[in-house]
Amino acid sequence: MDIPQDLKTVEWRDGRVVMIDQTRLPGELVFVEYETYGQVADAIRNLVIRGAPAIGVAGAFGLALAASRSTAGTVDSLMADLCTARDELLGTRPTAVNLKWGLERALAAAEKCTDADSMRRAVVDESLAMAEEDVKTNKEMGKNGSGLIGDGETVMTHCNAGALATVSYGTALGVIRATREAGKNIRVIATETRPVQQGSRLTAFELMHDGIDVRLIPDTAVGYSMAQGLVDKVVVGADRILGTGHVYNKIGTYQVAAMAARHGIPFYVAAPLSTFDLDSGPEDVVIEQRKAAEVTGIGDSMTAPDGVGVINPAFDVTPPELISGIITEKGVAAPPFKESIRALFG
Ligand code: MRU
Repeated sequence: MDIPQDLKTVEWRDGRVVMIDQTRLPGELVFVEYETYGQVADAIRNLVIRGAPAIGVAGAFGLALAASRSTAGTVDSLMADLCTARDELLGTRPTAVNLKWGLERALAAAEKCTDADSMRRAVVDESLAMAEEDVKTNKEMGKNGSGLIGDGETVMTHCNAGALATVSYGTALGVIRATREAGKNIRVIATETRPVQQGSRLTAFELMHDGIDVRLIPDTAVGYSMAQGLVDKVVVGADRILGTGHVYNKIGTYQVAAMAARHGIPFYVAAPLSTFDLDSGPEDVVIEQRKAAEVTGIGDSMTAPDGVGVINPAFDVTPPELISGIITEKGVAAPPFKESIRALFG
């Protein structure tokens, strides 16, 4: 497959939102173009784009489409249109806090304006700024995390926290990329990440494309790999981090963290400050439940009896006592997290 350098997961191009359709990977690299915020909402809902930072920027671009397409002539009527769009976009996926962050930031830019045209421009400009910052943030995070990985080590990662989960470069995979760029020779063990298989479809695809040595394992081989001494460090991304250091991430992350603790393997989380939610407690976080078909089949093949009951949470929560450090663009927060997270936010 011919893959252009400097590939962006999501972009604003000539008044449209362009995304890589991640449901088609690794088979095909297909770009899709959207003209309305409703189409962007569907894309987020259907995992055409996924990953916390990527959906934060996609949400903001969705709001930029709502602003550009609205025919409202006054500040109040445009704000009403933007709030309708915000509500629909926000309702697409409940767990990753970056979506709320991106929408609120774009809306806050609009609120500062005194006429409808400057509001339109402000939402587009703010979304573009977020997309640009995302790449810089990931590179800073990568540098901060690369010191934690030694030459010759093997890093396990779960799900996809790579370029495809952000605008570019990635969070957990950003740390892996930066470690490689620092001249260290490293290997990656990627979990398959059932049921949607972000690990096999996306992480393996990205790392192979970058020439990074990656081995794919079934999720059930995490304990085996650690017990065999095949894993030196674990680095994963996050969808939401509370002020206590509780980390919400792809279902299965908690199992990986528990296994890492059992085997004395350092477990790191890499996430930008936009993934932190200092205002919520565990009772406020909604864990997205996804459709049964993701579990009862793979592609078009049924792998379970028709009609079986299914539990399919998309995320779980890893408690702070299982986490060795949280890598951010402002540095690495170490336990106890209540204090170190507060310090990150100055
Ligand atoms: O359901 P997904 O694919 O959106 O879940 C993605 C994850 O859980 C990632 O690990 C997380 O968003 C961090 S991405 C930098």
